[in-house]
Amino acid sequence: MSLQGSVTPPGDKSISHRAGLFSLLASGICRVANFSPCADCASTLAAVESLGGKVEREGGEVILHGAQGKLISAAVDCGNSGTTMRLLMGLLAGRPGSYALDGDASLRRRPMARVADPLTRMGAKVSTSEGRPPVTIEGAQLTGQRHELAVASAQLKSALLLAGVQAVGETLVIEPHLSRDHTERLLAAMGADIAQAEGGWRVRQSDLEQLPRLRVPGDVSAAAFLLVGALITPGSRVTTLGVGLNPGRVGLITVLQRMGSKLEVSQEGDEPEPWGRVSAAYAPELKATEVLASEIPLLVDEVPILALAATQAQGTTVLRSIGELRVKESDRIAAIVTQLGALGARLWEEGDDLFIAGPTPLKPQGSYDSYGDHRIAMTLAMAGALCGQTLEVADAACAGVSYPDFYRDLEALQQ
Ligand code: S3P
Repeated sequence: MSLQGSVTPPGDKSISHRAGLFSLLASGICRVANFSPCADCASTLAAVESLGGKVEREGGEVILHGAQGKLISAAVDCGNSGTTMRLLMGLLAGRPGSYALDGDASLRRRPMARVADPLTRMGAKVSTSEGRPPVTIEGAQLTGQRHELAVASAQLKSALLLAGVQAVGETLVIEPHLSRDHTERLLAAMGADIAQAEGGWRVRQSDLEQLPRLRVPGDVSAAAFLLVGALITPGSRVTTLGVGLNPGRVGLITVLQRMGSKLEVSQEGDEPEPWGRVSAAYAPELKATEVLASEIPLLVDEVPILALAATQAQGTTVLRSIGELRVKESDRIAAIVTQLGALGARLWEEGDDLFIAGPTPLKPQGSYDSYGDHRIAMTLAMAGALCGQTLEVADAACAGVSYPDFYRDLEALQQ
């Protein structure tokens, strides 16, 4: 069974989170079109409301009323969303009040000291439960600091920049490798005093004003599953429409092109960020590649689906320094190795590197586990599509964390 047709993926999750959360600090009213319908962004909007922000929904748009930093003390449930929790940590650290942040069992396993520690150096009063959620915050006056991050993480960088727009003095954030810059772009558009400096970003205390309108591009990380499905499934051709093409998010496209696939990318706009269409057709001669540590942040959410593509490529693909994947919604390295391995793929880890030998025909047998991780669930669904079957996957519905209509869109493409 091949995949044929075009799909408009949901609004970008990262940009939707930021639009929602930044409204807490800003003045003005923003009408957001194509706000992500995913469960994670619903957690963000619920958090905004519980902190005193006003959110309305009208004709498919989300209307955010700026709270101008006048927040109410609250206990916030961040659900499964690391972005909600980490960005809120930086945002709330500088607001007067008491806040408690918690989440589901997966979020409770994720590291928060990487955010709490640098915030503490800025004067924040943040405590974690041995480095993990629940997190409590007593708002304090923050002072700008220079931060050199040990990990390339857009969530950590964003938390520190959000603290920085409220801090006295200058805050500088330098990453070991560049990660997505949605926060920097949106803060700049909202009037923040932010600029590139020393290979990173420096920000000063700023008043923020919301854009009157924001149209969120489609989520390229959601599109990625269907595009890879088309590349590896004989006879397929899929076009994804209106997807974000932020350079910090298109590492998968670069790597797949290097592997010999003819992905066609055409940019059709640049507001609020570059966006356009991406088409993929069956690529029978994919070649293995080495993905460098500096490329990983540009495709960090696409590693599971890239690993599936690599099982069909000639030679051994190496993904370097993917240790961060151990602390995502699941231990994604373990999940990839066990679940693709159970399908017959030849792959193994060495330290923080992942090796995938191909091409290997996949042979479904028995049942599979998403580990409650949306990106693992969608990767397994695409492996099933390649084999012309629907795999039995525990908690397959968790795809709704980022892509609620994923199974419907996949079914519509199957011919
Ligand atoms: C995100 C950053 C990435 C990514 C996550 C969303 C963001 O996490 O994996 O899905 O919106 O900033 P890290 O910052 O932990 O790399």
